[in-house]
Amino acid sequence: MSEQRTLSIIKQDATARNVTGSINARFEQADLRIIAQKRICVTKEQAKKFYEIHREKAFYDSICEHMSSGPIVVQVLQGEDAVAKNREIMGATNPANAAIGTIRRDFGQSIEHNAVHGSDSEENAAIEIAFFFNSLELVG
Ligand code: TYD
Ligand code: MG
Repeated sequence: MSEQRTLSIIKQDATARNVTGSINARFEQADLRIIAQKRICVTKEQAKKFYEIHREKAFYDSICEHMSSGPIVVQVLQGEDAVAKNREIMGATNPANAAIGTIRRDFGQSIEHNAVHGSDSEENAAIEIAFFFNSLELVG
């Protein structure tokens, strides 16, 4: 285990329900430090670039539509084993299958409106962090 950074996104369905602070508390309770954060809107084109890995999937167009439908909060979380730890506290992709006490179980509405995104590997975390933040914005 080592100190890592991971990209987190509080998605539009969660910002619309005014639970940004409640979700952030979950990160802090898990010893993940929010070292960078901004509330932004992305275009559908930008969302398509971010989710490019899913371009062949049936849900690609729909998730890009959702991601660009209103404000999102993009953030960098730092801590021990941050990538896996964040995936664990987020819970399964479908909130209906997510473990009790996880963010998606408590704040997600459906598999698409599932409250949060989290990087799935250290390699992808670096790519995703660079997508939204420059080095001057990352103060650990
Ligand atoms: P994925 O990377 O598989 O899940 P995760 O966010 O847990 O890493 O999928 C990306 C997002 O796409 C997911 O958060 C919600 C959406 N999605 C759907 O809308 N339908 C689906 O069947 C899947 C697998 C994902
Ligand atoms: Mg994923």
